[in-house]
Amino acid sequence: MNAIRIALLGAGTVASGVVKVLERNQEEIRRRAGRGIEIVAVAARNPDKARAALGSALPLTCDFHGLATRDDIDIVVELMGGIEPARSLVLAAIAAGKHVVTANKALLAQCGNEIFAAAQSRGVMVAFEAAVAGGIPIIKAVREGLAANRIEWVAGIINGTTNFILSEMRDKGLDFATVLAEAQRLGYAEADPTFDIEGVDAAHKITLLCSIAFGVPVQFDRAYVEGITRLDAADIRYAEQLGYRIKLLGITRRTDAGIELRVHPTLIPASRLLANVEGAMNAVVVLGDAVGATLYYGKGAGSEPTASSVIADLVDVTRLHTADPEHRVPHLAFQPGALADTPIAPMALVRSAYYMRVHVRDEAGVLAEITHILAEHGISIDALLQRPSGADDRHTAVILLTHETVEGRMDQAQARIQALDSVLAPIVRLRKEELR
Ligand code: NDP
Ligand code: HSE
Repeated sequence: MNAIRIALLGAGTVASGVVKVLERNQEEIRRRAGRGIEIVAVAARNPDKARAALGSALPLTCDFHGLATRDDIDIVVELMGGIEPARSLVLAAIAAGKHVVTANKALLAQCGNEIFAAAQSRGVMVAFEAAVAGGIPIIKAVREGLAANRIEWVAGIINGTTNFILSEMRDKGLDFATVLAEAQRLGYAEADPTFDIEGVDAAHKITLLCSIAFGVPVQFDRAYVEGITRLDAADIRYAEQLGYRIKLLGITRRTDAGIELRVHPTLIPASRLLANVEGAMNAVVVLGDAVGATLYYGKGAGSEPTASSVIADLVDVTRLHTADPEHRVPHLAFQPGALADTPIAPMALVRSAYYMRVHVRDEAGVLAEITHILAEHGISIDALLQRPSGADDRHTAVILLTHETVEGRMDQAQARIQALDSVLAPIVRLRKEELR
């Protein structure tokens, strides 16, 4: 059978991995797919840069739209990133009857409903394994491998850049800016690294996982997003003293109040496998009612790990290319007509335990005032530390861990504690998850 013909849009980190791995493993891949996979051409805005990045003599063009809609192309692989022009090109390719493979989580988290609907009505596939957790086949696992389960929650380290930064800062004592620059050099960071460090990239990914876990439309605008830029090294240290590590987690959970959808720095017990995921590695835990907890671990970023997922999608699309569209795996795991309208829960209704660091005057009764307010809001204390706070021995840092409560209740208690005369600086508050 003739090779399936693909076009690459973009010639950067991931595209160069796709070119290399397809070439190196072409025979194995052909045996799996049932036919060869041939890159017909690559669209790049800077041909010299593209030639150097790809290290290949593949035909290049600056006409992205022309290539995305060309008659002799079967699959368009979008590896540019960003919303526009990626969105218009993907929609043009779909309208021209092309299947699409993309690693672009920003695009799918923001425009996924539009893109999947267009693909559904044109009878083509949009595959996006590389968009979540780089080289880990988490989309396939949740969408197909766990199809028997009612999924309860998904929690994961799904941004390699921030996990790399947190690991290097803790282990080597390096500063934030130095480690971020290294993550950029290694090709982990997004074109705009604020997406990584402010939690937006992780929110794009957990939004997609939320949709395929619970069968709801893609709702990035409802995600709660908090990154690592305001994290203080002191809190990483105190968390360790209490037996916890701080990780940037994406969490989505089914609750009576709706579906939780959130990204934030989180204390997790140091004994959990997730707490020991270091560097640019990613890991995702999925709890299903039948299977229990399953853990997926691997490289979440980088050229060839991400290419591994892109090519897996190419093989899938090649195998299913001639199948009846009705019998393909639905984009969001559930049949399009069977998506649920379960609301995303507001943060005030989210259940979590908390870490609080309160900078106070070191005098009699201060601790009692704080614990009294927590008790009045029905918040139970799990652990407590008191540490000297700077050079002034009239001040001290009180570090508290609470048991699980509702966020709205914690907000009220925190506002009252903050207003005490004895509290001398803004309270630092982080969420804590036991992930049982
Ligand atoms: P790069 O920045 O390395 O490459 C992007 C490519 O697309 C470059 O050739 C770039 O051209 C081109 N491009 C970008 N914007 C435009 C535009 N507006 N018009 C024309 N060409 C454009 O990105 P990556 O390869 O790292 O990422 C590609 C996609 O894969 C993104 O969606 C990213 O989020 C995703 N991804 C990346 C991972 C990684 O580890 N890097 C992991 C998982 C997903 P130029 O060089 O001229 O800027
Ligand atoms: N910037 C992303 C990360 C790339 O650091 O995880 C992989 O999606």
